[in-house]
Amino acid sequence: MRRFLVAGNWKMNTTRATGEDLAAALAANAPAAEDGVEVLVCPPYPYLVPIADKTSGSAVSLGAQDVYFEAGGAFTGEVAVDMLKDVGCSHVIIGHSERRHVMGETDETINKKVKAAIAGGLTVVLCVGELLSDREAGNTEAILDGQMAGGLADISEAEAASIVIAYEPVWAIGTGVTASPEQAESAHEHLRKWVASRYTDAFSEQIQILYGGSVKPDNAEVLMGQPNVDGALVGGASLKADLFIPIIDAARKLSA
Ligand code: 13P
Repeated sequence: MRRFLVAGNWKMNTTRATGEDLAAALAANAPAAEDGVEVLVCPPYPYLVPIADKTSGSAVSLGAQDVYFEAGGAFTGEVAVDMLKDVGCSHVIIGHSERRHVMGETDETINKKVKAAIAGGLTVVLCVGELLSDREAGNTEAILDGQMAGGLADISEAEAASIVIAYEPVWAIGTGVTASPEQAESAHEHLRKWVASRYTDAFSEQIQILYGGSVKPDNAEVLMGQPNVDGALVGGASLKADLFIPIIDAARKLSA
């Protein structure tokens, strides 16, 4: 059975102090190994070191929200894979819709980042998702196919073992409008089939596919209870322990 992953993307939020308190609360409530649930937090870059202090030794993993594909050098403002590893990151989010649509990141850049992160030993949370206009035009699956093909170009199955997919419909991010469980399941099933056709059936059964977009304590269980939904990538509700812990608990309950 696939394990659940419940990941918090803090985006450009928290202070050092509020982030430390949040991480400490999560570490204190981290699921036990036998719960079948992994927990990941992705704070802003400047807080990775203090948050690592709070999560190290606990079952809470640490990730960054982005990474650059070059190993080092004159790339002002960018952060390399080895730097993330050096401060305790095991994961990195790549291709988040805000990077695609606010910062203009392309599938080509995303693919370079994915390759660099995997080569450096990080687990990648690769985000894909359609705009509302794409969905209304009936193009959801074509958009997802393009983002998957672009992000995973020239990536072998062995390399893809270090990838978690996050389906995040852009219209559901930060809007309070969640995809219905049926909409989420349909997209996840499509993504799993894409993975099966690109790689193998066996591999498609292993890869984790998370749902993201207005996940809250009151919808987490029904969303994660869909057969092809293996966890959640949570934005707003990951910023408060009393909202994030119930989402972790929903995954715990489903995997019991
Ligand atoms: P919200 O949970 O705030 O909708 O954000 C989702 C998201 O973008 C997580 O990466």
